[in-house]
Amino acid sequence: MQIKKLILKNFRNYEDETFCFNENLNVLFGKNAQGKTNCAEAVFYLCTGTSPRCRREKQLIRHGCSSAEISAVAEGVYGALEISATITESGREVRVNGNKITRNADILGNIFSVFFSPHELRLIQDGPDERRRFLNISVSQLSKPYYIALSRYNKILEQRNNLLKNKDVAMVYDTLPVWDEQLCRYAAAVAYKRAEFITKLSPVAESIHAELTDGAEKLVVKPEKNYKGSETELAEKLFNELSANYERDIRLGFTSSGPHRDDLDIIINGTDAKTFASQGQTRTAALSIKLAEVEIFKQTSGEYPVLILDDVMSELDLPRRKRLVGRTQGLQTILTCTHAERVLYGKEVNKILISGGRIKRGT
Ligand SMILES: Nc1ncnc2c1ncn2[C@@H]1O[C@H](COP(=O)(O)OP(=O)(O)OP(=O)(O)O)[C@@H](O)[C@H]1O
Ligand SMILES: [Mg+2]
Repeated sequence: MQIKKLILKNFRNYEDETFCFNENLNVLFGKNAQGKTNCAEAVFYLCTGTSPRCRREKQLIRHGCSSAEISAVAEGVYGALEISATITESGREVRVNGNKITRNADILGNIFSVFFSPHELRLIQDGPDERRRFLNISVSQLSKPYYIALSRYNKILEQRNNLLKNKDVAMVYDTLPVWDEQLCRYAAAVAYKRAEFITKLSPVAESIHAELTDGAEKLVVKPEKNYKGSETELAEKLFNELSANYERDIRLGFTSSGPHRDDLDIIINGTDAKTFASQGQTRTAALSIKLAEVEIFKQTSGEYPVLILDDVMSELDLPRRKRLVGRTQGLQTILTCTHAERVLYGKEVNKILISGGRIKRGT
């Protein structure tokens, strides 16, 4: 799926602007604080229903306005698609081909997208939350059942955690198996899909990393905990694990095991990247994982996602920049930077100069 046209109305610093994208490389360039990232954010939001940089949607509405609107016309192997999102103080309304979407799950999977910005270094440097967020957004785009299982898992987990804080311990012991019967089913679905995704992602990330570093470094990406077996077997294992931890969970007042605690190990040249990697190594590892995500989307769905590269060029040395641009061949890319260097991007690129929340035309 490729986005042909994007319209932003009262979105962040845009009042009313229309972008026409080509199917290859689109470079949004301009000075700082003009609206480049805002446009990239709008694209990702429309694809996933999530902003890559804020959790409060109200922030997306242009200051002084009551609502924001993002709409796009896209085209893919299955035909054309119109998608729009209206965000107000009280919520949002998403429409696909004019039909109102009632389940969040149905926003996903219309247009796939992969977002990469310097912020994604947190994928390597930060705690497990960031890595789970990465897995959740990726796998949810590829699998609605995953998104639904994850939402249910989180809901039951919250109820289980509330129960664990109850002072009536006998009642807690009696009730836990009832919750866990359901919880372990969703936990197994989440763990199974994540494991499947990581199994596909790891070798691709490792080979892209070897290419970006000219074979000088070796990346390994693997789940901290290995879930093996069918979904039914996993559910049984997770149920037993929950049961074995009753006492500890009651003492702690929260659920201490399950997919909400899982993590990914990211290793460069045999050492833990989180603790030992340099800035450049971290950046290249994060980029390799993101580019691998692009390939897995293509392998799994048959279509390349829209790749968004926000402000990543200035952080890479010239050979890595060139290799990165080389990798964007054949997939729709929206890249933001301050200078659209011709030597790097070539003549075929669609250059869009952004200034003060507007496209500067005729340049
Ligand atoms: N809700 C909003 N309403 C109005 N303006 C906003 C809103 N949210 C953000 N802005 C403004 O949008 C401007 C542009 O932000 P953006 O992050 O897109 O800049 P940028 O072009 O990517 O700059 P840089 O090169 O520094 O990354 C900022 O000045 C910011 O204050
Ligand atoms: Mg920016």
